[in-house]
Amino acid sequence: MRRLFSLLAVLAAPLFGTAAGSGTGPAFEETPFGKLPDGTAVTRYTLVNKNGVRVSILSYGGIVASFEAPDRAGKFADIVLGFDDLKGYLDGSPYFGCITGRGANRIAAGKFSLAGKEYTVTGANPHALHGGTKGFDKRLWKAEPAMTANGPSVKLTYTSKDGEEGFPGNLATTVTYTLQSDNGLRIDYLATTDKPTVVNLTNHSYFNLAGHNAGEILGHTLQLVADKYTPGDAAMIPTGKIAPVAGTPFDFTTPTVIGTRLKETGGDPVGYDLNFVHGMKREENAKLVATVTEPKSGRILEVLTTEPGVQLYTGNFLGKEVGKGGAAYKQYHAFCLEAQHFPDSPNQPDFPSVTLKPGEEYRQTTVYRVSAK
Ligand code: BGC
Repeated sequence: MRRLFSLLAVLAAPLFGTAAGSGTGPAFEETPFGKLPDGTAVTRYTLVNKNGVRVSILSYGGIVASFEAPDRAGKFADIVLGFDDLKGYLDGSPYFGCITGRGANRIAAGKFSLAGKEYTVTGANPHALHGGTKGFDKRLWKAEPAMTANGPSVKLTYTSKDGEEGFPGNLATTVTYTLQSDNGLRIDYLATTDKPTVVNLTNHSYFNLAGHNAGEILGHTLQLVADKYTPGDAAMIPTGKIAPVAGTPFDFTTPTVIGTRLKETGGDPVGYDLNFVHGMKREENAKLVATVTEPKSGRILEVLTTEPGVQLYTGNFLGKEVGKGGAAYKQYHAFCLEAQHFPDSPNQPDFPSVTLKPGEEYRQTTVYRVSAK
């Protein structure tokens, strides 16, 4: 009997990689995560750093499926919303943890023009959201895990075909997740095209620093570097103005409890769902743009990015999702900080451009770094 158990244990053991010569140091694990309806296998890669922080990434959608981080007492919790199995993601996920593209956030009526030609993104209702009907969040990515000098990583590649979801050009895309020793999950994006196109990628992780199943995030404190934002209409299409946050419920330039002015934000449903502006161009190096603190656990999330904008979304549309361990995810149970170019950029001449031409490289780096005090 004992032999059977040990045999089963060996069979069930994930593929395991460690840094040369270290048993407990940085590592990655590779485990099956179900199959797509056509039978293709999906894999989960778990990156582990020397502090015991564990982040798992799926080859489906490049989804950050878990992020285990310690509180001030060293107690670990999973701080991102998600599902226990692939079925959860396939049955309808509100973009939990995924790579979002080719056009993150909204493109008005799904239409944009490039070099005098009009293009229509799929699924506009009334506006295209997150890259159309079958965006990057619903694609299977080729995955290559590796131990790098910066920590365990998984490199995801996907070539989006010319015309896919209405976007022109074959877009060769690489997204590399690296779990650094400073507890930063670094995301490096690279894309090239063979025709002029538009590209705006982000990661759509839903965080709750008290734990994915800990309820509302309205008591978290947020500080944003942004002194401006892009006001939008009722359907969240920017008016084109870049307005100061001073004197509005969108002023997070000093640390502010998220729930304090929630009702003043207006909108339907009520809550934050807005692009904040901390720059007007992509930076060479990622800089700190957001800090979130959860008072009880002491966990802190810092967001560093090369991108000029960040979408703050407070899970206003959550409500029907049953996630990991049977957790009921309700309205305001998570926040997203999606580092990106501004919504509807292809139609907004005064916003930083998202056009990518052949011979150019789209590069973006964002780091989600956790600590506790
Ligand atoms: C958008 C929200 C949307 C959410 C989930 C966010 O980026 O701004 O309006 O509901 O993604 O799709």
